[in-house]
Amino acid sequence: MSDNKGFTVWFTGLSGSGKSTIAEMLYHEVQARDMKAEILDGDEVRKNLSKGLGFSKEDRDTNIMRIGYVASLLTRNGVATICCPISPYKETRDANRALIGEFVEVYVHATIEELAENRDPKGLYKKALAGEITGFTGVDDPYEVPENPELVVDTMIESPEESLQTVLTKLKELGRIESDEVMIEGDRVHSGLT
Ligand code: ADX
Repeated sequence: MSDNKGFTVWFTGLSGSGKSTIAEMLYHEVQARDMKAEILDGDEVRKNLSKGLGFSKEDRDTNIMRIGYVASLLTRNGVATICCPISPYKETRDANRALIGEFVEVYVHATIEELAENRDPKGLYKKALAGEITGFTGVDDPYEVPENPELVVDTMIESPEESLQTVLTKLKELGRIESDEVMIEGDRVHSGLT
């Protein structure tokens, strides 16, 4: 049960799909249960641990394996570790599943059309579709949809709160947390994220 046993929740999905939002809400929920928690977010990790890496397959794989390595250390030390990089390649996600062991993969689904038309805060989809950026995930670079994730959340039809509830319920079902009741309401923000 939740006797300080570490685990990793690995959110994967396209840029803008909602991974970081749900990850951060989950982070607060885990902390509210007196468990140690940490987030490894793609955008954040690329400012430090993976600084200098680009978006070739090789660089993405390096980024993902670095995140997985840190997650494995945290997990074995009892931390609820929440990772939310795009992680577009199945093989690299599976390598981290094997490395970490206590691994809960959550596919965060939203279509490219939705992301490009309605959710493009950084304007990156617009640029990618115009050919100003090349190698953008989901536009002209691959995203391999998980075949057997522990959970799929669909942010096309669910609010962040609904997706969070689904994740909490799955974690309870898997024996990772004791209660799936939402404990934190409002807009508290994890200091490590912008
Ligand atoms: S991953 O592919 O290596 O898992 P990661 O999650 O770290 O990606 O970084 C993705 C973020 O980088 C996106 O949210 C977006 O803001 C930015 N980005 C810049 N260029 C690209 C690109 N070519 N493909 C995808 N994301 C990009």
